[in-house]
Amino acid sequence: MPTRILVVDSDQVTINWLESKLTAEGYSVEGATRGDIALQKIAQDSPDLIVLELNLPDGNGLDLIHRLREDPKFSHLGIIIFSLRAEPNDIVAGLNAGADHYVHKRPGADAELLPVVRACLTHPPKVTYAASRGKIISFCSAKGGTGTTSVCVNTAYALVKLEPQARIVVIDMVFPIGSVGSSLGYETARTIARMSREVSSQVDRVTIERYVSQKLKWGFHVIIGANDPQEATGLNVDQISTIYEMLSATYDYILVDLGRTLSRISIPIIENSMAVVVIVTPDISTVKASRVMLDYLEAHNVERNRIVLINNRTVGRVWTTTEDIERELRLPLSLTIPYVVEYMTMAINASVPFMEKFPDHAAGMVFTDLARLLQARERART
Ligand SMILES: Nc1ncnc2c1ncn2[C@@H]1O[C@H](COP(=O)(O)OP(=O)(O)OP(=O)(O)O)[C@@H](O)[C@H]1O
Ligand SMILES: [Mg+2]
Repeated sequence: MPTRILVVDSDQVTINWLESKLTAEGYSVEGATRGDIALQKIAQDSPDLIVLELNLPDGNGLDLIHRLREDPKFSHLGIIIFSLRAEPNDIVAGLNAGADHYVHKRPGADAELLPVVRACLTHPPKVTYAASRGKIISFCSAKGGTGTTSVCVNTAYALVKLEPQARIVVIDMVFPIGSVGSSLGYETARTIARMSREVSSQVDRVTIERYVSQKLKWGFHVIIGANDPQEATGLNVDQISTIYEMLSATYDYILVDLGRTLSRISIPIIENSMAVVVIVTPDISTVKASRVMLDYLEAHNVERNRIVLINNRTVGRVWTTTEDIERELRLPLSLTIPYVVEYMTMAINASVPFMEKFPDHAAGMVFTDLARLLQARERART
């Protein structure tokens, strides 16, 4: 019997559009334009997955999620929010209510939604990474384009300089398409998504070693999540915990680019990180979004003392002062990366870390300071 998906959306055009996309993937799709109709359908014959808009004519989609999650029969039902709303508040509220994923409804969003649907259906998230706690350093932000990938990659570069003997790996966990590989000129078909699919039982250490890059010329290793949305579709979430455990056994530092994802995949990684580098840019909307994100992380047992707050001046004009940011986020800024005009983009375009391309630029010292700070935390831990 085909896997059944219920699309709950007041807009029949969206239902039809998703129906065509999802039936092409072999799923059987039904639609409901109201929350009460959806509840009736679910109670009669539960689908395998719900794709839900929050704005419903008879109330808020969050209420529907709460009602389903309160009922033990539906506590494990896959729920993906697919909504026009995309404020961090909405995402946090949706995940808190019990949704498994949140995808922003916008043109072309099917490329993001389809892998999430597949992942949700084949591997319901049940992830705990307790054993790997310690060596992981997460890099994340509340918005895209804040420089998360650049900070992650250059911190790895700086760590190598400080500790040449250390085994360091950078993991790109931005799905469906990350940019660690392209920013380093590292191309590979060996991705986490592919590994997790190819291995029939639990991945082992030998397999992981085949998938992690050789040491790049900058002294660290890389493993990337996926090359494209199609491949991301195959990600077997159940393997992630083992992958991190194996990496912890081999590497001294595991730097993870999580981008702006807050999902049931990224949150356990964050929870198990010894340090969580949160990158903010000095504009009001990013700072406010970061506040919501930090509150959410705190509610998920990521204490504020594990957060390393970085102010990255990606634009020349400064809209908010250091004091504004610290007051709003109730955390001291650890470091500020200066605006480096087009140099960061030039480094990315040349597929070389900024610090390698512009070794004399003062901004490099900030990455070194960040690496030193993380090194000190790791040493204090062990
Ligand atoms: N300090 C800086 N000064 C000037 N430009 C910067 C700075 N930091 C980052 N940038 C630029 O900002 C852009 C985004 O950088 P990057 O890709 O590292 O961010 P990101 O948060 O990983 O983005 P995405 O959300 O796409 O993953 C790039 O064009 C980069 O050159
Ligand atoms: Mg990025």
